Amino acid sequence: MDDYQALVDTIANCQRCPLCQTRTQTVPGEGNLQARLMIIGEGPGADEDRYGRPFIGRAGQLLDQMLDAIDLKREDIYITNIVKCRPPQNRTPKDEEAQACLGYLYQQIEMVNPRIILLMGATALNQYYDKNLRITKSRGVWFEKDGRMLMATFHPAALLRDASKKTDAFVDMLSVKRMLASQ
Ligand code: URA
Repeated sequence: MDDYQALVDTIANCQRCPLCQTRTQTVPGEGNLQARLMIIGEGPGADEDRYGRPFIGRAGQLLDQMLDAIDLKREDIYITNIVKCRPPQNRTPKDEEAQACLGYLYQQIEMVNPRIILLMGATALNQYYDKNLRITKSRGVWFEKDGRMLMATFHPAALLRDASKKTDAFVDMLSVKRMLASQ
Protein backbone atom coordinates (compact mmCIF):
# COMPACT_ATOMS: atom_id res chain seq x y z
CA MET A 1 0.00 0.00 0.00
CA ASP A 2 2.84 2.39 0.83
CA ASP A 3 4.50 1.49 -2.45
CA TYR A 4 1.23 2.11 -4.22
CA GLN A 5 0.75 5.55 -2.65
CA ALA A 6 4.34 6.40 -3.52
CA LEU A 7 3.62 5.50 -7.13
CA VAL A 8 0.46 7.64 -7.15
CA ASP A 9 2.50 10.54 -5.75
CA THR A 10 5.21 10.05 -8.36
CA ILE A 11 2.62 10.07 -11.14
CA ALA A 12 1.03 13.23 -9.69
CA ASN A 13 4.35 15.05 -10.11
CA CYS A 14 5.29 13.49 -13.45
CA GLN A 15 6.82 15.66 -16.15
CA ARG A 16 8.07 12.89 -18.41
CA CYS A 17 6.13 14.07 -21.46
CA PRO A 18 4.43 17.26 -22.69
CA LEU A 19 0.97 16.09 -21.57
CA CYS A 20 1.93 17.38 -18.11
CA GLN A 21 1.65 20.92 -19.45
CA THR A 22 -2.01 20.66 -20.44
CA ARG A 23 -3.44 18.35 -17.76
CA THR A 24 -5.59 19.61 -14.90
CA GLN A 25 -4.41 16.68 -12.82
CA THR A 26 -3.12 13.16 -13.33
CA VAL A 27 -5.46 10.17 -13.44
CA PRO A 28 -3.37 7.32 -12.05
CA GLY A 29 -6.07 4.66 -11.86
CA GLU A 30 -8.11 3.22 -9.03
CA GLY A 31 -9.85 0.18 -7.71
CA ASN A 32 -9.16 -3.01 -5.85
CA LEU A 33 -5.44 -3.49 -5.30
CA GLN A 34 -6.08 -7.23 -4.99
CA ALA A 35 -8.21 -7.40 -8.14
CA ARG A 36 -8.02 -10.50 -10.33
CA LEU A 37 -9.10 -8.40 -13.32
CA MET A 38 -7.35 -5.23 -14.46
CA ILE A 39 -8.85 -3.02 -17.15
CA ILE A 40 -6.61 -0.77 -19.21
CA GLY A 41 -8.04 2.07 -21.28
CA GLU A 42 -6.42 4.69 -23.47
CA GLY A 43 -6.18 7.89 -21.49
CA PRO A 44 -8.25 10.33 -19.44
CA GLY A 45 -10.94 12.42 -21.12
CA ALA A 46 -12.30 15.77 -19.96
CA ASP A 47 -14.30 14.42 -17.00
CA GLU A 48 -11.44 12.21 -15.85
CA ASP A 49 -9.00 15.12 -16.10
CA ARG A 50 -11.35 17.25 -14.01
CA TYR A 51 -11.92 14.71 -11.23
CA GLY A 52 -8.69 12.68 -11.32
CA ARG A 53 -10.57 9.39 -11.69
CA PRO A 54 -10.61 6.95 -14.63
CA PHE A 55 -13.68 6.15 -16.75
CA ILE A 56 -16.23 8.41 -15.08
CA GLY A 57 -17.67 10.06 -18.22
CA ARG A 58 -20.07 8.57 -20.78
CA ALA A 59 -17.65 5.82 -21.79
CA GLY A 60 -17.24 4.99 -18.12
CA GLN A 61 -20.97 4.62 -17.63
CA LEU A 62 -21.08 2.18 -20.52
CA LEU A 63 -18.10 0.35 -19.04
CA ASP A 64 -20.10 -0.03 -15.81
CA GLN A 65 -22.90 -1.65 -17.82
CA MET A 66 -20.41 -4.00 -19.50
CA LEU A 67 -19.12 -5.00 -16.06
CA ASP A 68 -22.64 -5.39 -14.76
CA ALA A 69 -23.32 -7.85 -17.58
CA ILE A 70 -20.79 -10.18 -15.99
CA ASP A 71 -21.77 -9.39 -12.38
CA LEU A 72 -18.73 -7.27 -11.63
CA LYS A 73 -18.57 -3.93 -9.89
CA ARG A 74 -15.87 -1.25 -9.89
CA GLU A 75 -14.74 -2.33 -6.44
CA ASP A 76 -13.97 -5.81 -7.77
CA ILE A 77 -11.48 -4.61 -10.37
CA TYR A 78 -8.61 -2.21 -10.91
CA ILE A 79 -8.88 0.34 -13.76
CA THR A 80 -6.19 2.45 -15.31
CA ASN A 81 -5.06 3.83 -18.66
CA ILE A 82 -2.06 3.70 -20.99
CA VAL A 83 -1.40 7.40 -20.33
CA LYS A 84 -2.20 9.04 -17.02
CA CYS A 85 -2.72 12.56 -18.40
CA ARG A 86 -5.40 13.76 -20.80
CA PRO A 87 -4.24 14.22 -24.38
CA PRO A 88 -5.50 17.59 -25.71
CA GLN A 89 -8.84 17.32 -27.56
CA ASN A 90 -8.90 13.66 -26.53
CA ARG A 91 -6.59 12.73 -29.37
CA THR A 92 -4.90 9.33 -29.38
CA PRO A 93 -1.76 9.37 -27.23
CA LYS A 94 1.44 9.58 -29.29
CA ASP A 95 3.91 6.70 -29.18
CA GLU A 96 6.42 8.78 -27.22
CA GLU A 97 3.76 9.77 -24.66
CA ALA A 98 2.74 6.15 -24.20
CA GLN A 99 6.40 5.11 -23.95
CA ALA A 100 7.10 7.75 -21.30
CA CYS A 101 4.13 6.53 -19.24
CA LEU A 102 4.27 2.73 -19.66
CA GLY A 103 6.69 2.25 -16.77
CA TYR A 104 3.91 3.36 -14.39
CA LEU A 105 1.53 0.82 -15.88
CA TYR A 106 4.07 -1.97 -15.48
CA GLN A 107 4.50 -1.03 -11.83
CA GLN A 108 0.73 -1.02 -11.30
CA ILE A 109 0.45 -4.46 -12.89
CA GLU A 110 3.22 -5.77 -10.66
CA MET A 111 1.59 -4.36 -7.52
CA VAL A 112 -1.97 -5.47 -8.25
CA ASN A 113 -0.82 -8.74 -9.83
CA PRO A 114 -4.06 -9.46 -11.72
CA ARG A 115 -4.66 -12.86 -13.31
CA ILE A 116 -6.44 -11.27 -16.25
CA ILE A 117 -5.98 -8.03 -18.15
CA LEU A 118 -8.72 -6.60 -20.37
CA LEU A 119 -7.47 -4.04 -22.87
CA MET A 120 -10.12 -1.53 -23.92
CA GLY A 121 -9.57 -0.53 -27.54
CA ALA A 122 -6.79 -0.30 -30.08
CA THR A 123 -4.47 2.01 -28.15
CA ALA A 124 -4.31 -0.32 -25.15
CA LEU A 125 -3.87 -3.35 -27.43
CA ASN A 126 -1.15 -1.68 -29.49
CA GLN A 127 0.76 0.06 -26.72
CA TYR A 128 0.63 -2.69 -24.12
CA TYR A 129 0.70 -5.83 -26.24
CA ASP A 130 1.48 -5.60 -29.95
CA LYS A 131 1.70 -2.64 -32.34
CA ASN A 132 0.85 -4.81 -35.33
CA LEU A 133 -2.52 -6.14 -34.18
CA ARG A 134 -5.84 -4.66 -35.26
CA ILE A 135 -8.62 -4.44 -32.70
CA THR A 136 -11.21 -5.62 -35.25
CA LYS A 137 -9.24 -8.83 -35.89
CA SER A 138 -7.76 -9.47 -32.45
CA ARG A 139 -10.61 -8.61 -30.08
CA GLY A 140 -11.95 -11.58 -28.18
CA VAL A 141 -8.72 -13.54 -28.62
CA TRP A 142 -6.82 -14.64 -25.50
CA PHE A 143 -3.10 -13.93 -25.38
CA GLU A 144 -0.58 -14.52 -22.64
CA LYS A 145 1.97 -12.00 -21.42
CA ASP A 146 4.20 -12.27 -18.35
CA GLY A 147 2.13 -15.19 -17.07
CA ARG A 148 -1.19 -13.33 -17.27
CA MET A 149 -4.11 -13.88 -19.59
CA LEU A 150 -4.82 -10.89 -21.80
CA MET A 151 -7.71 -9.99 -24.06
CA ALA A 152 -8.75 -6.88 -25.98
CA THR A 153 -12.25 -5.71 -26.72
CA PHE A 154 -13.77 -2.60 -28.24
CA HIS A 155 -13.37 0.59 -26.24
CA PRO A 156 -16.73 1.70 -24.78
CA ALA A 157 -16.33 5.02 -26.64
CA ALA A 158 -16.27 3.00 -29.88
CA LEU A 159 -19.51 1.30 -28.82
CA LEU A 160 -21.08 4.72 -28.24
CA ARG A 161 -20.13 5.69 -31.80
CA ASP A 162 -21.21 2.39 -33.37
CA ALA A 163 -23.80 0.38 -31.47
CA SER A 164 -23.44 -2.56 -33.89
CA LYS A 165 -20.19 -3.44 -32.10
CA LYS A 166 -22.02 -4.07 -28.82
CA THR A 167 -22.80 -7.71 -29.55
CA ASP A 168 -19.12 -8.53 -30.05
CA ALA A 169 -18.20 -6.62 -26.90
CA PHE A 170 -20.82 -8.56 -24.94
CA VAL A 171 -19.45 -11.86 -26.25
CA ASP A 172 -15.98 -10.71 -25.14
CA MET A 173 -17.22 -9.84 -21.65
CA LEU A 174 -18.74 -13.31 -21.28
CA SER A 175 -15.39 -14.75 -22.31
CA VAL A 176 -13.75 -12.70 -19.53
CA LYS A 177 -16.30 -14.06 -17.08
CA ARG A 178 -15.50 -17.65 -18.09
CA MET A 179 -11.76 -17.02 -17.89
CA LEU A 180 -12.12 -15.49 -14.40
CA ALA A 181 -14.06 -18.55 -13.28
CA SER A 182 -11.37 -20.87 -14.61
CA GLN A 183 -8.37 -19.08 -13.08
N1 URA B 1 -11.49 6.68 -21.92
C1 URA B 1 -10.39 6.03 -21.50
O1 URA B 1 -9.74 5.32 -22.26
N2 URA B 1 -10.05 6.17 -20.24
C2 URA B 1 -10.72 6.89 -19.37
O2 URA B 1 -10.31 6.95 -18.22
C3 URA B 1 -11.86 7.56 -19.82
C4 URA B 1 -12.24 7.44 -21.10
